[in-house]
Parts: sequence; C-alpha cells; structure tokens
Amino acid sequence: MIKAAVMGYGTIGSGVAEVLRINQDSIAGKANGGIEVKYVLDLRDFPGDPIQDKVVHDVNIIVNDPEIQIVVETMGGVEPAYTFVKAMLEAGKHVTTSNKALVADKGAELIALAREKNVNFLFEASVGGGIPIIRPLNSSLTADEIEEITGILNGTTNYMMTKMANEGLEFDDVLKDAQEKGYAEKDPTADVEGYDACRKIAILTSLVCGRQVDFQDIHTEGITKISAADMKYAKKMGRAIKLLASSRKTDGGYLAMVAPFMISPEHPLYNVNDVFNAVFVRGNVLGDAMFYGSGAGKLPTASAVVADMVDIARHLDCHIGIEWSSKKLELADFGKAENVFFVRTSSGEDTIRQIFGDADVIDAGIGGEIGFVTDVMTEDAFAEKSAKLNVISVIRVGQ
Ligand code: HSE
Repeated sequence: MIKAAVMGYGTIGSGVAEVLRINQDSIAGKANGGIEVKYVLDLRDFPGDPIQDKVVHDVNIIVNDPEIQIVVETMGGVEPAYTFVKAMLEAGKHVTTSNKALVADKGAELIALAREKNVNFLFEASVGGGIPIIRPLNSSLTADEIEEITGILNGTTNYMMTKMANEGLEFDDVLKDAQEKGYAEKDPTADVEGYDACRKIAILTSLVCGRQVDFQDIHTEGITKISAADMKYAKKMGRAIKLLASSRKTDGGYLAMVAPFMISPEHPLYNVNDVFNAVFVRGNVLGDAMFYGSGAGKLPTASAVVADMVDIARHLDCHIGIEWSSKKLELADFGKAENVFFVRTSSGEDTIRQIFGDADVIDAGIGGEIGFVTDVMTEDAFAEKSAKLNVISVIRVGQ
C-alpha cells in the first residue's frame, strides 16, 4: 500500500480523501495495491471526520517520514504551498496539486526540480477541475502543433453569464445568487475580474509552447461590465456572451487574452452553460477537439487529483516528462491582435459610419442608444476610432 499525505483539508483536500474511500477497491487495482492517506496537514482539527487521527500541524512530520511517497497539495495560494511543495520534492516525494496560482507562478521551477529528483510534479486539477486537459496536452496531443486553445475556464462566471442571458437579470443580482448557491466566493474578484481564467490559460499556453508564460502579460478583462442591456443585444444578434480565455499562434507569436465574447450558435463553446467548463483545442494535424465537463467542485476536482495519484503510483521510479522550461515566452503585441467589436453608443448612425464605414447596426429597442458591429480590425485601430464616439460598452465578437 502506497502512503500519501494531503496538505490542506478544505473542499478539494477532503474530496481527495473521500474519492480514495469511495473507490478504494478499484483504485487498489489500478495503483500498485492501493493508496492510503497517512497524514492530513492543516491548521485545524477535524473531530468526527474519518481522518481525525491523521491530522498533523507540522509539515516536517511529512517531509521526514520516508514512508510517504505521494503528497497532495490542496492548500491554494502561492505561499506557503510553494515552500511546502519544494520541500517535498527535495525530500524525493512525488507531488500532485490542484493549485493554479502555484502552477502558473512556479510550475516550470517545480517541474525542473521534480526532474532533477526523479519524481513527479503533476497538476491535472489546476485547470478545468475534473476535465482532463493537462494530460491530453502532455501526451495524447504531442503529435500536433497546437494552433489555438480557447476555453470557458471559470464555472462561476459561466453560471452568471448563463443566468443573465436566461433571466434578463443584472450582474449584481446574479452575483448575489451565485454567492448564495456557493458558486461565487464572498470576495468574487478572482472569478469576476477574469484573474482565475487568466492563470489557467497561462498554464495551458506554457504547456503548448513549452516555455514560461507569465500570467501578468496576458490581457485580462472580466465580466463586471456586462449588463442586462448587453444581453438584450446579444439575444437580438442570436449570440451568447461567454468569458473566453484564449491563446492562439499568430505570425507575431502566441497571443493570449481573457475577455467576454459574443459567440454564435456555430461556435463550439456556445452550448457550454451553467457551471460547466470546456476547452476547445485546434491542432495543425488533429484539427478540432473539445474537452467538456465539471470544471470545479469538490468531487470532480478531487477525481483529477486522485487520477494524478494513480499515475504517480504507476511511475514511482520514473519522472513523467513535461515540456515547460523556465525560459520566458514574450507574447505577441496585444495592440496588433485582430478582433471584431460590438459597440453600444449614444452617437448617431451617421457618426458611426463616418468613423467605422459600413458597420452593421443593431437596434435592441433601448432608448437613446444603438449598437453596431465593426469589421475585423486591430485592438490599436479600434481604440483610436472608438475614442471618437460616445461609447457605452464594448464586447468582442467571436466566430
Ligand atoms: N472559482 C473557480 C471556478 C474554481 O469557478 O471555476 C475552479 O478553479
């Protein structure tokens, strides 16, 4: 029986213990005789919980126990997770984490350390929760050059966009509902400002290009400015508004961004609703592929963590290579990115046409304003032209 430790007994950590219990027998068959949690590291105690006797408060107990081969990190945040994970790898233990902040920031370094120590650092659960996407990119799709990855990578905001579209509600009302249902945090900033999706697309882009993509370099817009009026226009245009995290290869290099997009029913992500996530991948020889499922939540995310544990159990004596060097990749200039823009304005049709030429005008029946869709143009060109209009809101238009 392989002995493991779980660092952080919150939603995901307790889910990992639960998945190992629920599927104990089948996991034993797949993972070298089974995996048993020996320690749970947390600041708290958990009286009455099945792991109550395994709780420790000192990380060194795990570091110094040679019996522990696999460590799960489900604490969240960069510190102290980084210090603890580094100590585990240095002690020759394998690590799996669900922590996107840690992976986006320190992934390259921790992979290199794992390689040096001939152990594994896996992180399937850090992007898309229970949806397999890291392993497919790292093994199943290695014959391809990935030309595009576009995902709905945040369940909270997708739930909010779906509810606003279906019920005509304003952002604040839908946020309150998401918080009541436990989908949104009390402080929802990371989700609604797009920061969570930004870290996830940074991880995917790093894997695709094999180099370090700094999340700080990715142009990121959240959904806080999306209103019920925007949804009215989207409905009139037969489109849905989705927060997309996207990365594509262009002549100027990789272009990555997070922003709301109006997408048509033909777009592969159009029907991804509620808390579901999906990742669309285009390979130069594969063509198009889609990965869809539960992108968050206790058991789906724990399922991905435990699958990493099983993978580790099958590779206890060898390092599973992951191409992600710490050499930084400079992303393409965002100002040169070409997009189509939907604009709401209080300026008249004549002014619109003077500035943007023959634009498609949309009237959603809202007094004192009109909407229109531009031709394809660069972000820089759009910024220059739109500065001459009274702009109410702007949303990019996808396929
Ligand atoms: N808050 C995140 C989401 C959790 O809504 O997708 C998973 O990273």
